[in-house]
Amino acid sequence: MMNLEIKEMTCAHIEEIARLEKECFSSPWSEDGLKAELNNNFARFFVAFSGEKVAGYIGSHNVLGEVYITNVAVFPEFRRNGVGKALVEFLVNEMKSENAEFVTLEVRKSNQNAISLYEKCGFEKVGERKKFYEKPTEDAILMTYFIK
Ligand SMILES: CC(C)(COP(=O)(O)OP(=O)(O)OC[C@H]1O[C@@H](n2cnc3c(N)ncnc32)[C@H](O)[C@@H]1OP(=O)(O)O)[C@@H](O)C(=O)NCCC(=O)NCCS
Repeated sequence: MMNLEIKEMTCAHIEEIARLEKECFSSPWSEDGLKAELNNNFARFFVAFSGEKVAGYIGSHNVLGEVYITNVAVFPEFRRNGVGKALVEFLVNEMKSENAEFVTLEVRKSNQNAISLYEKCGFEKVGERKKFYEKPTEDAILMTYFIK
């Protein structure tokens, strides 16, 4: 496992995270979309660093103890090194200390890598949303980590 540091997202990280979004998703978040989260009181976004380099990030919204993961992404050159797991575990621990009830997310049904990551972190499959995604159209699996 590489040496990682996880920090709260700031303005200085937005450009690199927007680049990461573009590399990973067919409908990526824009710089403006990410920037708006800096002023959102419900939002907690964290960035994983390997030295000076951004390795990955995780975004979340905590609304009255119900936490929703908006996105998790790791740059291809840093994958399979435990970065995704470190980010998800870090977020879950933060939310435990904030007395959240659960952490939930959607993931594409075909995204087995991400599904295994979430299962490793203690998330359970709790449902499906038909045709939730576009580009390409696909069902979502709903996964939840129950804290209380
Ligand atoms: C999914 C993603 C975040 C995983 O990040 P990562 O840093 O590579 O994940 P980790 O190294 O922490 O892997 C944790 C576990 O997830 C599973 N996993 C992750 N990538 C995998 C792969 N390519 N093949 C098989 N299992 C994989 C494994 O169970 C792994 O544990 P192991 O390495 O001990 O076998 C990364 O692949 C990514 O950014 N993908 C594109 C964006 C995306 O799909 N995000 C999720 C949206 S819901």
